[in-house]
Amino acid sequence: MLKKQISVELFAVESLQENYDLFASAVETLRAQLQVSNDRGESRKHHPDFLGYGQSAEVYVINVNGRQYACRFADIYTHDSNMYKSFDGKVWTSFEAHVTGLVRMQNTPGFMQFYAVSLAERVTITNIMLGQTIKDWHNSAELLNFEIPDEHINAFFEWLELAQQRNVVLDMQKPDNTFYDRETGFSLVDYTVYVPDLHRPETFEQLLIKTCKIFLPAEDSVAYACFEKFIKRCEFIYTSRYGAELNIWEQVRKLRQKDLMAMFD
Ligand SMILES: Nc1ncnc2c1ncn2[C@@H]1O[C@H](COP(=O)(O)OP(=O)(O)O)[C@@H](O)[C@H]1O
Ligand SMILES: [Mg+2]
Repeated sequence: MLKKQISVELFAVESLQENYDLFASAVETLRAQLQVSNDRGESRKHHPDFLGYGQSAEVYVINVNGRQYACRFADIYTHDSNMYKSFDGKVWTSFEAHVTGLVRMQNTPGFMQFYAVSLAERVTITNIMLGQTIKDWHNSAELLNFEIPDEHINAFFEWLELAQQRNVVLDMQKPDNTFYDRETGFSLVDYTVYVPDLHRPETFEQLLIKTCKIFLPAEDSVAYACFEKFIKRCEFIYTSRYGAELNIWEQVRKLRQKDLMAMFD
């Protein structure tokens, strides 16, 4: 079963590599404009097409045939992809684990649409996520009088569950990997297949606690009240969905979010 799934995924990667021809020259034009140094994106943040950066990657808008896409350069600071061993002895680079995660969540609402990849260049082309990151919402007054609808919260739970069922690990440590759009709801970037050498096994409960952490901004931030309401709503929906026996909410309430947020500054 697992072997079969992996061969289907490898086939998907082959055709995504073929698609890359369509994007290659736009990516090269963009790359030529970026002075790649080890400053973690600081000097490139002001590039007009800059979308975001994390521990390992930088993401920009590219235009191809009149449409806009997100172009992610992986391992931009190390110029190399770390290697990790899986339970079956397979060795994954961190980039391969990311690419396989994208394939595994392909055509799933709430996750990225994956259009093309270059394994050699470690570049992936996806759609641009709608809305703003949770980190941006924390500093925005726009959500203050807005109640996140229950169907958005429900869908978000479903996607977290689905990713876990498919052995896909979401990086929920940071509020800039989750997007929220008032029309379409939540969506996620930054996920990889589970590689034991790289990840600690995680229960659904642990994943939820981690997720709730990112939603509670510092108490003095504009959107604090809104997200507190959101967490209360999550508690209600979660309890009716999974039963009350898992008491994660006590733990969530105890979180010292101020300290946590300090880690992201
Ligand atoms: N498809 C996308 N559309 C819009 N922004 C994105 C997209 N992909 C990534 N980003 C932004 O770029 C940041 C870095 O990308 P990410 O894949 O998380 O890199 P890393 O693995 O280094 O953390 C994300 O936190 C997000 O804010
Ligand atoms: Mg990230």
